[in-house]
Amino acid sequence: MKTLVFGAKGQLGRDIIRVFGQDGECVGVDLPEVDIAEPDAAAALAREVQPDLVINAAAYTDVEGAEDDPDGAWRVNVDGARRVAEAALAVEAPVVYISTDFVFDGRKTVPYEPGDPPNPLSVYAESKAAGEQATMEANPRHFIVRTAWLFGPGGNNFAEKMLSLAETRTELRVVNDEIGNPTHTWDLAEALQALAATDRYGICHAVNAGSCSRFEFAQAIFRNAGLAVKVHPCSADEYPTKAARPRYSVLNAGLLEEITAYRFRSWEEALRHYLQRRGYANE
Ligand SMILES: NC(=O)c1ccc[n+]([C@@H]2O[C@H](COP(=O)([O-])OP(=O)(O)OC[C@H]3O[C@@H](n4cnc5c(N)ncnc54)[C@H](OP(=O)(O)O)[C@@H]3O)[C@@H](O)[C@H]2O)c1
Repeated sequence: MKTLVFGAKGQLGRDIIRVFGQDGECVGVDLPEVDIAEPDAAAALAREVQPDLVINAAAYTDVEGAEDDPDGAWRVNVDGARRVAEAALAVEAPVVYISTDFVFDGRKTVPYEPGDPPNPLSVYAESKAAGEQATMEANPRHFIVRTAWLFGPGGNNFAEKMLSLAETRTELRVVNDEIGNPTHTWDLAEALQALAATDRYGICHAVNAGSCSRFEFAQAIFRNAGLAVKVHPCSADEYPTKAARPRYSVLNAGLLEEITAYRFRSWEEALRHYLQRRGYANE
């Protein structure tokens, strides 16, 4: 099994390379050598590599920056996504497009199902929802995998921000009214591997089990890393951002677990594994 991964230097891309590389050949590319939005760049590479599977983990992920740069976000998340999906089709390979909980507006009070209608609130989220469509239209053998609140080594993620703040702060205020599923990139990569072994194309959700607020996530990070930082809850209204974010974006990963033998562990367990990988001693 040969897998071609776009976005291989991103936090998810790195763990995909590690997990898929364990029992197969994995070719990973990223900027600057391959820009997925450039005409024929993805297609030329796919012709050369002849993969059995193509994973698009490349994305414009700057949620705030996208508000001032919609063309930039659209270029990568939609045009690039279409080109990667077409490149996979041309070599008769299925394509995986990684999408986001942000495609939803957060008005639900129970976990989002893959069939729930998207209603993105920000430019980034709109571009990701349009990228899902572009991928589905370009390649009938598509896996659209929505995930959330990723943390992986080397990533610019919430866990890393908290660990970095702990170097200078002993008290922090963290929002208590954004609820989601923290998800370890390692676990997501394993789930992708299980899913890609099937022919159950379509949309599914892939997140660690359980959900929490950012405040609870921060508390768990400091507790498990053995860092004495006191966290105080506050409202997202106190920290206005350019990009609107869903207040509740919990995803139900039941479909992926039904299709595959994969079972997501709890986000707390996944967090402990992550902190171990990062060199923080815990049990
Ligand atoms: N992070 C999250 O919490 C989260 C939550 C839900 C879904 N997702 C989705 O999960 C996927 C992976 O996210 P991530 O957190 O691993 O993102 P990431 O760390 O920002 O990685 C994305 C990678 O794509 C590369 N890239 C950007 N534009 C490109 C282009 N035109 N051609 C080729 N590569 C390009 C980036 O390179 P540069 O760094 O040089 O730009 C980066 O290496 C994305 O689809 C994202 O939308 C993420």
